[in-house]
Amino acid sequence: MANYYVIGLSAVVMLTIVSLVYDSFDMDMYQCRDTKQQSDSSTKITRLLTSANSSWEFNITGNDVLVCLHIQKTGGSSFGRHLVHDLDLSSPCQCKKGLKACQCFRPGSKNEVWLFSEFSMGWSCGLHADWTELTNCVPSMLDKFEGTKHKRRYFYQTILREPQARYLSEWRHVQRGATWKTAVHMCNGKIPTSEELPRCYEGIDWTGVSLEEFMDCQYNLANNRQTRMLADLSEVGCYNLSKLSNAERRARMLESAKRNLRRLAFFGMLEYQKETQQLFESTFGLKFLKDFVQFDATKGTAAKTVLTGQQKLKVQEANTEDFLLYDYAKKLFLERVAALRQKRRKRAPLTRLS
Ligand SMILES: *[C@@H]1O[C@H](CO)[C@@H](O)[C@H](O)[C@H]1NC(C)=O
Ligand SMILES: *[C@@H]1O[C@H](CO)[C@@H](O)[C@H](O)[C@H]1NC(C)=O
Ligand SMILES: *[C@@H]1O[C@H](CO)[C@@H](O)[C@H](O)[C@H]1NC(C)=O
Repeated sequence: MANYYVIGLSAVVMLTIVSLVYDSFDMDMYQCRDTKQQSDSSTKITRLLTSANSSWEFNITGNDVLVCLHIQKTGGSSFGRHLVHDLDLSSPCQCKKGLKACQCFRPGSKNEVWLFSEFSMGWSCGLHADWTELTNCVPSMLDKFEGTKHKRRYFYQTILREPQARYLSEWRHVQRGATWKTAVHMCNGKIPTSEELPRCYEGIDWTGVSLEEFMDCQYNLANNRQTRMLADLSEVGCYNLSKLSNAERRARMLESAKRNLRRLAFFGMLEYQKETQQLFESTFGLKFLKDFVQFDATKGTAAKTVLTGQQKLKVQEANTEDFLLYDYAKKLFLERVAALRQKRRKRAPLTRLS
């Protein structure tokens, strides 16, 4: 009996230590299991990758897949294009003029894909698929595409953006006629009903919408988009708003988004292009042939929009969780960048100075 007690106790202590150590690593990653096992959200993800163990580094010839979670108006498209066009690879993605999607096969393979993004697989898991959709879809979609069931490791990544700028950019885009109405919003195997997720506009699109109208629609998916797209929506009753109180839903969604963000293999920030590139390169052991150019935040109609004090407040209200998530993400991002710089300084001492 005593022996079991000792073993049990040391197991608990070990697990606690392991989880603490894991939390302090700068590159937490997770793996999706087969969709069958995903009913219980607590077992859905397994954090298993650490920067301390080089055998967990991204291996393009192995079984590793880079999955892009592209949140609208965060610069995800230009990042996605860099991935298919500008990486220094022994066998680069094959892109044809006029076609958006390239073929990104592993070196020496004719059907195995190492990149899952709109630029390699189209929107095969749904237009701008979110965390909830991707984690439930990517493994089986790749099995179908490659024609065999495979064990793979999935390295998720995304780009975030300062919420007010992102929101205004989305508003301007919708004002010009964008809708993303073919997005699926699959959650728990279901598509939201039109009662759960009503359209904010009548007719074919929302062309010409004013900022006030845009903010006033409570079903506008632009509101807190970054938080929602990173959260596990099955934890909050998907799109059915009556499962939880509004306050509880928002709080839980934010916590879930933060948790998932920490576990992404990588995330970048629009406002920090150079650092985003460096962090990506060191995380994945890959190099870009061209340097990222800092996006000029002062260009474009959205950036030139001057808001009244009241409008600013309303944008903040409509995106409360996104602002909190962004603050959290920025801190984490800059910590990782600092850790990377320190590592480099250690590796390349004084000689560089001469
Ligand atoms: C790294 O991970 C591999 C695979 O699980 C394991 O066999 C190995 O012992 C690990 N190495 C270190 C240094 O933790
Ligand atoms: C990458 O995976 C391939 C195929 O599984 C393996 O042969 C190779 O040793 C791996 N490379 C590294 C650096 O782990
Ligand atoms: C939300 O779910 C409840 C059952 O839990 C159901 O009665 C209600 O109709 C759903 N709401 C919408 C808008 O579909």
